Amino acid sequence: MRTKYWIVDKNVDKLENFPQLQEAADLLRKNEVVAFPTETVYGLGGNAQSDEAVEKIFAAKGRPSDNPLIVHIAKKEQLTDFVDHIPQTANILMEHFWPGPLTIILTYKEGTLSQKTTAGLMTVGIRMPDHPVALNLLEQTGLPIAAPSANRSGKPSPTMAQHVKEDLDGRIAGIVDGGPTGVGVESTVVDCTTEVPVILRPGGVTKEQLEAVVGEVLLDPALKDQKETPKSPGMKYRHYAPDAPLYLVDGTKEQIQALIEERQQEGLKVGVLTTEENQHFYKADDLYVCGRRSQLETVASSIYAALRSFDRAQVDIIYSEIFPNTGVGNAIMNRLLKAAGHKMIK
Ligand code: TXA
Ligand code: MG
Repeated sequence: MRTKYWIVDKNVDKLENFPQLQEAADLLRKNEVVAFPTETVYGLGGNAQSDEAVEKIFAAKGRPSDNPLIVHIAKKEQLTDFVDHIPQTANILMEHFWPGPLTIILTYKEGTLSQKTTAGLMTVGIRMPDHPVALNLLEQTGLPIAAPSANRSGKPSPTMAQHVKEDLDGRIAGIVDGGPTGVGVESTVVDCTTEVPVILRPGGVTKEQLEAVVGEVLLDPALKDQKETPKSPGMKYRHYAPDAPLYLVDGTKEQIQALIEERQQEGLKVGVLTTEENQHFYKADDLYVCGRRSQLETVASSIYAALRSFDRAQVDIIYSEIFPNTGVGNAIMNRLLKAAGHKMIK
């Protein structure tokens, strides 16, 4: 299949007049799958009501089919089409964080979406992305759009159209290139079907931000203890992994530099994931400067590009600094731990 590629400037007012977006919307209505930018990562969109479209998403990604997809909407009114009951906490969260990087899990109204979208669960995850291109595309189709991250299953999520191309060229109908995404990690997934909301996946909206508007919010125990079974099916898979083994190092810069030298003496090519503050300290074969430690948002926005860059550099082993578990640092550490298969050197 030849994958169409459209470049769209997200800053122009009249996006709906862009023939590129009209063509992309048209393909979505015909149950084809199209990648598009959101404020978190690029999504691989398909009509959430169509078995055919959702099958194409799973096939293109090589994704296990027991893993449900997030449904993207442009207008809050669409919610009641496939959700029975909207609890008060969910309403407050939508009010504060939509459009934005927050996916809300609600009780699903059976028969209203493809069963492949929900993977047969009694709940459904819904979000309204905060990106002009995504919103415009969703509005033009008028459909609920299922969209997982637009990477091959197991690979780091794409934060640039080029990443999508690397993974999915020839496997999908089209890619809308709207430039780099902003937040850089996926949406926070919060279960609102329980009395107290539970975070199933940390992401762009922090626990602290959620608690500021709805009071107590819990963390799925599986996020802290690897032995627990996660409530979010996607959280159990190995994810985001670069080709070379990745180790997180809970230690000083001197200790990291010592590790680099040991591996180099064994003849290995060593990659290091660091930050602006520490970059001048290391002598590695490939150094990726991933934002500023003093501003974790900048780390989040380049973490996936960092993981992908080591594949291109063809290093044999990667060491990464670790980050504090506060604010968006939670999401950063969650993704790094998964990418490392939980390998941590203390
Ligand atoms: O930022 C994002 O959320 C991006 C952009 C494209 O919107 N999408 C994304 O989708 O990250 P995906 O499919 O890569 O991740 C969806 C996560 C998975 O961990 C999945 O298991 C979980 O959400 N999920 C979806 N529906 C669920 C449900 N009903 N119950 C529990 N977890 C659910
Ligand atoms: Mg994903």
